[in-house]
Amino acid sequence: MTIPPDSSEPLPLEAAARAWAARQLSAGRFAHTEGVVATATALARRFGIADSAPLRLAGWLHDAAKERPPADLLHLAERFRLDIRPVERAHPDLLHGSVALALARDALGIDDPAVTSAVLYHTTGHPDMSSADRVFYLADLVEPSRAYGWIDQVRRLLDAGSTRRDLDIALLFAITHQLRRLLKHGAIIDPRSIDLYNRLRQEGIPLIPEERAPARQPESSSPLENGGGTP
Ligand SMILES: [Fe+2]
Ligand SMILES: [Fe+2]
Repeated sequence: MTIPPDSSEPLPLEAAARAWAARQLSAGRFAHTEGVVATATALARRFGIADSAPLRLAGWLHDAAKERPPADLLHLAERFRLDIRPVERAHPDLLHGSVALALARDALGIDDPAVTSAVLYHTTGHPDMSSADRVFYLADLVEPSRAYGWIDQVRRLLDAGSTRRDLDIALLFAITHQLRRLLKHGAIIDPRSIDLYNRLRQEGIPLIPEERAPARQPESSSPLENGGGTP
């Protein structure tokens, strides 16, 4: 996907979020974060999301807790009194979005529902995702540093699309690939991902077959997360 240069001046809150995220993350993951912000902005324009500002904020925040060890994520989730689902207790990495939100609320006062849902659902998806949440999930997947072979097919689907149905076709393709990968590895699957798959199929979204392409990076078999252990 070709991402046009972003000439807009960051808003003060966005600049604060960017600086805060940079302090939480390694250079590699921060580069992924920058890619997500740029890709979410471009996809928002393509798919008619009127206000991309919440997605840009979500981009800066979403992985801010991703480099914390599982015990630390669990401890922070308990300290912030977050609702911890059984699958998250078993795989605390799934908490990295909700912990990042809690930290950002503390540090920056960010408490916007549109930012919250994009960050909360970026890891596993959710059947009730808004169009903006769907754009964000896919931006996290296809930002330029991601280099799995199958992601090029997601990029092509997005490049050819502009409607909510096009977005859903790309989302179903992506979530189905992720579910297949987890089943292949016998991994735990977050029920939210299965609920999203079912919702899209019930709505009549077609399943696009996967083209055979050599993987350019090995994929993790960790619980459903865009790109597993990569940036
Ligand atoms: Fe993440
Ligand atoms: Fe990410």
